[in-house]
Amino acid sequence: MDEVEGLLKELTEAGGIPGHEAEVRQLVRKHLGPLGDISYDRLGSVICEKRGEARGPKIMLAAHMDEIGFLVSHITKEGFIRFAALGGWWDQVLLAQRVRIKTAQGDVIGTIGAKPPHLLSDEERRKLVEKDNMYIDIGATSSDEVEKAGVRIADPIVPVSEFTVLASGRTYLSKAFDDRGGCAVMIAVTQRMVSLDHPNTLFAVATVQEEVGLRGAKTSVTLVNPDVAIVLEGTAANDMPGASNEGHQVLRLGGGPVVTFYRGDMIPNRHLRDLMIDIARKNAIPLQIRADGRVRGGTDGAAIHLHGSGVPTVVLSLPVRYVHSHGAIMHRADFDAAVELLTEVIRGLDQKTVTDMTAW
Ligand code: CO
Repeated sequence: MDEVEGLLKELTEAGGIPGHEAEVRQLVRKHLGPLGDISYDRLGSVICEKRGEARGPKIMLAAHMDEIGFLVSHITKEGFIRFAALGGWWDQVLLAQRVRIKTAQGDVIGTIGAKPPHLLSDEERRKLVEKDNMYIDIGATSSDEVEKAGVRIADPIVPVSEFTVLASGRTYLSKAFDDRGGCAVMIAVTQRMVSLDHPNTLFAVATVQEEVGLRGAKTSVTLVNPDVAIVLEGTAANDMPGASNEGHQVLRLGGGPVVTFYRGDMIPNRHLRDLMIDIARKNAIPLQIRADGRVRGGTDGAAIHLHGSGVPTVVLSLPVRYVHSHGAIMHRADFDAAVELLTEVIRGLDQKTVTDMTAW
């Protein structure tokens, strides 16, 4: 495992559901700490300031640390655990998955219970089980045993999935590439900037609570007050069977990071977007352009670009297959291209370039 794989393993396996980001925050802090001055907003987002030339513009790189997960909502007297979902889960990807309940006494492993086929009626087999009817089984036979294990109402629950390098050697399987992939890109770019001159001040920001409403983006952007923002995300690749309608755009794993032209909650600054595309072309860095307005889901960009009187913002995403599940897949080529591209873009963001972005 090389350095990037080690970083992705560490970050994706860490727990960090919205409002409970402590585990992943510690890791982000460990990696960003040596690169600049660390501070926090009061919701728990991490801000790393790396100063370049004195009076240059302030560039905010943002990636969210939180992942989708669950909270303990009820313990039945038979010892089963009901849960509330945090973030956008699809019920179909939950059954028989492993989870880790973070209790005050330590971690407790469980599985999301699924009736075996032997017990299913013909009608049940055809139906989607809804998460309200699911439960977590930690192997207890009474509520007393659950309590003894330390599990309490409102304890956070994290998906469990082991980071694995797949057969190609270039693709990785894990949970939470949305958005630990973005966090890893941000860390790698900030590491590079340490040895390079740049005409601006870089703020690498790992935000909290994106999956429940872009909350850490709102609070951290107030502290940073950037002149320009680049949001790093994981977005849904649709290059697998049945995922794209014929005649519509296909975003491929390994085709390069994705810059989005339009989404329901944000239109990127045209100049910043075009600068990114030009730099990619000049340096022969693969880049995919998403202009499909039907894709759902918001990003921190929605909150950041509306800060103050407006912040020129663009969203750059790693394409991820099976995003928001225990078994997501990303491609190393997309990671490397994103790091390469961002390094070049940040080096080009001087005062004039940034001022011109909002010269109407
Ligand atoms: Co995300």
